[in-house]
Amino acid sequence: MGGRTGAGSRIRGRTVLVTGGSDGVGREIVRGLVALGAHVLMPVRDRAKGLRVRADLLGSLPPAALEQSRARRSDVSGVSGQQPGVTLMDLDLESLASVRTLAVELLGADAPLDAFVLNAGIVPMGEGPRRLTEDGIERTLQTNFLGHFALTTALVPLLRQSRGQVVVQCSAATARGRIDLADLQSAHAYRPFAAYRTSKQALGVFAAELSRRSAAGGWGVRVRACHPGMVLGTAIAPRVRARLPQRLIRLAERLGNTPAEAASTALAAVESPRRGFRMFVPGGPLELRGSPRERAPWPSLLDAAQGCELWREAELLGYSRITRSRGLR
Ligand SMILES: NC(=O)c1ccc[n+]([C@@H]2O[C@H](COP(=O)([O-])OP(=O)(O)OC[C@H]3O[C@@H](n4cnc5c(N)ncnc54)[C@H](OP(=O)(O)O)[C@@H]3O)[C@@H](O)[C@H]2O)c1
Repeated sequence: MGGRTGAGSRIRGRTVLVTGGSDGVGREIVRGLVALGAHVLMPVRDRAKGLRVRADLLGSLPPAALEQSRARRSDVSGVSGQQPGVTLMDLDLESLASVRTLAVELLGADAPLDAFVLNAGIVPMGEGPRRLTEDGIERTLQTNFLGHFALTTALVPLLRQSRGQVVVQCSAATARGRIDLADLQSAHAYRPFAAYRTSKQALGVFAAELSRRSAAGGWGVRVRACHPGMVLGTAIAPRVRARLPQRLIRLAERLGNTPAEAASTALAAVESPRRGFRMFVPGGPLELRGSPRERAPWPSLLDAAQGCELWREAELLGYSRITRSRGLR
């Protein structure tokens, strides 16, 4: 992506939905997209923080970039259609009601949706015992996977209309191994990092399955996985971070990506015009840092039987609760 400008970008003038845009890597993905001329729909769980981040993002970009990133339609959320760059919306992935409200709003506005970057995530290390959301689902699984699954599948009609892109933010922690579908919610043995790995692997397996369904159904939706490498300068896992010795943090910062560098794999994924399920990773040693490169998707994500079973399980857990609601099919 290095050196690309809005003028040369295939996403100039496109509308992109990005979760987790209010901090860390997501904030830089939003900045990069707007700089390339995209209009970003940025749902946040904290509006005050969202407003601060939006002001910071827009203030950092040249007016010419903002001008070309005006929304194509002004009716999303009734917000800022006249303001270029970023439209704030509301989303708490820990609440399926919140996911449903956002989906209904987007489908009802009938605004274009050219790409969806599923970036929001938590690593609950150091945060005590297993917690359930208001929907009774293990919190890491719902935030990282199930909420995104429900939102994406609800928005498929919009993505089909624009033959759009879906980009899922994975983690190198999920490059190997299989999900235990019998214990998706880590009820039998809860370990925070294992719950994170399960949730992220589920997200990647879902992405591959979405790609297969798109190909089989002729939807035209292109699905990409990416991961940001190792990124110390974000807000994730704050309790663990607070306990790390400074020299370890400095070493990890040197070995890893800054949030802006880390955003470039998702940006490369959104820009890629190629068909089929694709994967973008940092190109440096051990994929911890560096400019993005495309690689073969991890075999751990590609088991079609597991993808099918996961989809069914996710529908049982949450999807049907959303689609049964008014306004969604
Ligand atoms: N940092 C790394 O080394 C690393 C490595 C591999 C993969 N990743 C992945 O990269 C992505 C971004 O991570 P990051 O390091 O940038 O984390 P971060 O700085 O903590 O940002 C996480 C984002 O997700 C949002 N979020 C968290 N819970 C949410 C919820 N319930 N509903 C809606 N939004 C929610 C946060 O919103 P608030 O602003 O409201 O908190 C924030 O915008 C994650 O998916 C993570 O798994 C990161």
